[in-house]
Amino acid sequence: MTVPLRRPIIAGNWKMYKTILETESFFADVAPLVKDVHHCDMIIAPPFLALRRASELSSPSGIAISAQDLHWEKDGAFTGEVSASMIREAGATHTLIGHSERRQLFGETDASVNKKIRAALASRLLPIVCIGETLEEREAGRMEQVLDRQLTLGFAGLTEADFSPIIIAYEPVWAIGTGRTATPEMAQQAHAFIRSRLQGLVSRGVAQAVRILYGGSVKPDNIRGLMHQADIDGALVGGASLQPKSFADIVHYQ
Ligand code: PGA
Repeated sequence: MTVPLRRPIIAGNWKMYKTILETESFFADVAPLVKDVHHCDMIIAPPFLALRRASELSSPSGIAISAQDLHWEKDGAFTGEVSASMIREAGATHTLIGHSERRQLFGETDASVNKKIRAALASRLLPIVCIGETLEEREAGRMEQVLDRQLTLGFAGLTEADFSPIIIAYEPVWAIGTGRTATPEMAQQAHAFIRSRLQGLVSRGVAQAVRILYGGSVKPDNIRGLMHQADIDGALVGGASLQPKSFADIVHYQ
């Protein structure tokens, strides 16, 4: 059996932090800290307004730029929304989709996640699709059921080929911004479950090839243990991606 090499990814999700000026200073400071990185892909997801500046400034550091969300329509009367082509034009190559804060605070559903994945793929934006259970769901023993639903409905109707640009982020909601990380073993168990479900839903090839990131209170001092797990291919980092030094320390997890 040949296991495909899955190139690691360290991605930072800035959420609603950093102005354009703050973005400029982040990239000036981070560039020398990560300039020799070849062992993983690096991605930063700034707020929409800073996307363009971030993509102008990120090339020396080799960091790719991601949006945090998108609307599924090409254009139209959707006040406050941003389309995939606008994001592409701003220089971003990736977009987060279905982050738990969008699901919990802004009414995002598996159905809207599905539409957003399709819109991103149609515009050649690489989707980073976030899934994960809440504390209540975990404590009720429903983690697998929730992940199963998010995968089945979120990825409904996608072909095997559609999956090649897709990245998945497993982020247990109870670990996000709380300082409570899943242990590496807990994260590994969830990642292995996700891979096995993808094998059932799509194909064995997709299950083996798709990169699955762990997210939820990832810090420089816990990244190593997570990256040692067989099915963890990287991290989606919130708070600890805001400082150039801690982002770079996470990138240098080896
Ligand atoms: P955190 O956020 O690292 O601050 O917990 C992770 C995320 O929400 O992507």
